[in-house]
Parts: sequence; C-alpha cells; structure tokens
Amino acid sequence: MESELDAFVKEITGEILEETKAAYGAEAFERWKTRRFMGSMENPDGYAVIRGGCGDSMTVYLGFEGERVRRASFMTDGCGSSVACGSLAVEMAHGRTPDELLDITPDLIRERAGGLPSEDDHCADLAAAALHEALNRYMQSRVRRAR
Ligand code: FES
Repeated sequence: MESELDAFVKEITGEILEETKAAYGAEAFERWKTRRFMGSMENPDGYAVIRGGCGDSMTVYLGFEGERVRRASFMTDGCGSSVACGSLAVEMAHGRTPDELLDITPDLIRERAGGLPSEDDHCADLAAAALHEALNRYMQSRVRRAR
C-alpha cells in the first residue's frame, strides 16, 4: 500500500514534470526524458567535444556510409536543454551529406525544439558547434587519408 510520503513524493514529482514541460515545450521535454540518440559511439568517423561558455560540454559522434551519415549520437554533461538540442541535432544529421550537415544551424535546432526558454538559447549553439566540429574532424581525416 502506498504511504502518505510516497503519495506526496508522487504528487510533487508530477507537478515538477508538468512545470518543466510547460517551461520547455512538449518536444524538448520528451527529448530530455527519453534521451534519444544519447550515448557514445565506437569507432566514429568523426567526433568532437565542445565546451560552451556555461562550462558544459557536448560531444557529437558521426559515422558515415558513403557520403551520408549512417550513425550519429551525442553526450553532454549539460542541462536538460542541451540534452534536447543534442538529440535534435544528431537526429537531423542522420542521412545527410557533409554539405547538408552545415544546414543544421542553432536556429533550426531551436525551431525544432519549439520553445526553449531564451536563457537556454546557447544550448542549441553548443549542439550545432559540436556537430559542425565533428564534421570538420571527419573532413580533415578524409583529406589525410587521401594523401
Ligand atoms: Fe550549459 Fe545548457 S548547455 S546551460
């Protein structure tokens, strides 16, 4: 049987989750909860760790097959918005060519997140920067291999 304390904790937790959802929007909230595409990758073709001005870091891993991204994932020690932005950035990366990856901008990530608080705008900057740097590292390794 549920104790009074258990019921209280359940109620408070539910309230906090509802407030978080209202503050971040349904899409970002869902990403934060499910952590879709969060995780490191073995043998990525390109990866990069970027530290933002807030002190948090984001790592993006890319795996290519031919000219397109076949695998993409991220890790972050940052806030809930950084989890949502990393998840959205790498989801959009799937199936794209290097040129098309450059179209994944902070604005596009913010748009897809659909309602991040303005003080978390930089979390989308961090996700896009990590994605683009992972691409940059991949392109550099291609050039080295071609020599
Ligand atoms: Fe640092 Fe979101 S990534 S506050």
